[in-house]
Amino acid sequence: MQEPKTYFIRTYGCQMNELDTEIMAGQLQKRGLSPAADEESADLLIFNTCSIRDLAERKVMGKLGQLGRAHKRHALIGVTGCMAMAKKDSLFRKFPHLDFVLGTNNITDLGVVLDEALYTQKQVFKTDDRFEENLDYLVAVRDHKLKASVSIIRGCDKFCTYCVVPYTRGQEVSRPPESVVEECKKLVDAGYKEITLLGQNVNSYGKDRPEWNCLFHDLLAQLDRIPGMCRIRFMTSHPIDITIELMQAIRDLPSLCEFVHFPIQAGSSRILKKMHRIYTKEQYLEKVALLRQIVPNVSLGTDIIVGFPTETEAEFQETYDVLKEIRYSVAFLFAYSPRKGTPAMRWNDDIPEEVKQERLQRLMALQEEIGNEERQQMLGQTVEVLVERFNRDGKNLKGRTRCWKKVIFEGDESMVGTLQMVTVHSYSHQTLVGSIKKLALID
Ligand code: SAH
Ligand code: SF4
Ligand code: F3S
Repeated sequence: MQEPKTYFIRTYGCQMNELDTEIMAGQLQKRGLSPAADEESADLLIFNTCSIRDLAERKVMGKLGQLGRAHKRHALIGVTGCMAMAKKDSLFRKFPHLDFVLGTNNITDLGVVLDEALYTQKQVFKTDDRFEENLDYLVAVRDHKLKASVSIIRGCDKFCTYCVVPYTRGQEVSRPPESVVEECKKLVDAGYKEITLLGQNVNSYGKDRPEWNCLFHDLLAQLDRIPGMCRIRFMTSHPIDITIELMQAIRDLPSLCEFVHFPIQAGSSRILKKMHRIYTKEQYLEKVALLRQIVPNVSLGTDIIVGFPTETEAEFQETYDVLKEIRYSVAFLFAYSPRKGTPAMRWNDDIPEEVKQERLQRLMALQEEIGNEERQQMLGQTVEVLVERFNRDGKNLKGRTRCWKKVIFEGDESMVGTLQMVTVHSYSHQTLVGSIKKLALID
């Protein structure tokens, strides 16, 4: 097989996968490959996959099956990401036309695996359980010119009973602070205005390396000091590890946005215990109360799973009530999906699909109502918007507030990449509509 000249990477799943795709694209470009216009014309095709729910896996399986049927042997085909870790070399049995399987902890080895697949013509797989801190993050090629994701901690040690991530991403490994700072400095110098720090649980940053003496809030303080740093976001925060120091950092560091994605997962303490979330509803509510006391203008986001094994209607109602009480700005709502290899598999998936869907619909309707009320309250307010680009309508500019709300308003090209103060006058669906705040004229 010849050295491929072009590549195409299809990415599924979360922002960590998107970032890994950017790193792999950078490695391939360094090797001399260029991006292909589409899947069909690529010499090298990579599926960077997700295993979080059954649907995510089925999408990729369907795609791989199709490629096999079409006998597209002209392209080198690889599977990377979480499904590569969940299924390892068993993927070769199901999809004999696959050339390689590369796990989430082996991105550094992409070149070696490609060489081996090319020159031996054999199927190659590399799926180590532990991440070695030798990944060159700086090669990442990013499509976006203003916003960038930066990995600060990989893996997860929490082992929630429903979740594949600790198995597909391995143990928590923090990235050295100097390396994070170096990348962020480079991004700021290259004109990036918003940096999102990524980890399954950013709040555990540094705990695996006490000798660094640098916990998450310390890292944030260092990043905030980078000259020209405009906005910093982070995700995700496990509620158990949020500290007062972090809350104070959100209050005090100018570049740190007042938005915390703080997934509760369920409103019933019995279900939370069964999920191994290691907090009760009351403890969670106390953390939220403290956060709101320290950062009164904070906005919250959440993830929720409905239909976890044995969840009763009354327990679901508790989740509903918590959603109503906390009033999140953003809520990602999911129906429980049993995952092979997780502890929750030993329980019967006993909530019928119709019941899960019906609970999901009720939560969605409530969240829609809360969102509309929140948007209503924002009418007349002036918000800071990082202008990203023209909206699809071609007329308005589009950007996000510090609290992650989408805003459109009239303006010109020169405003792209700047912060603008925008007064909200209406909204359409989820998007706020406003106009640039005019400075008062002084005679
Ligand atoms: N580390 C993050 C979550 C990453 S996974 C955290 O702990 O908050 C993103 C979300 O997918 C989870 O928050 C959870 O709500 C959902 N999820 C994970 N496993 C799931 C499963 N088996 N079924 C349904 N939803 C799931
Ligand atoms: Fe999964 Fe829980 Fe880890 Fe989040 S904290 S990635 S939900 S195991
Ligand atoms: Fe999916 Fe893996 Fe992310 S399972 S959600 S791609 S960490």
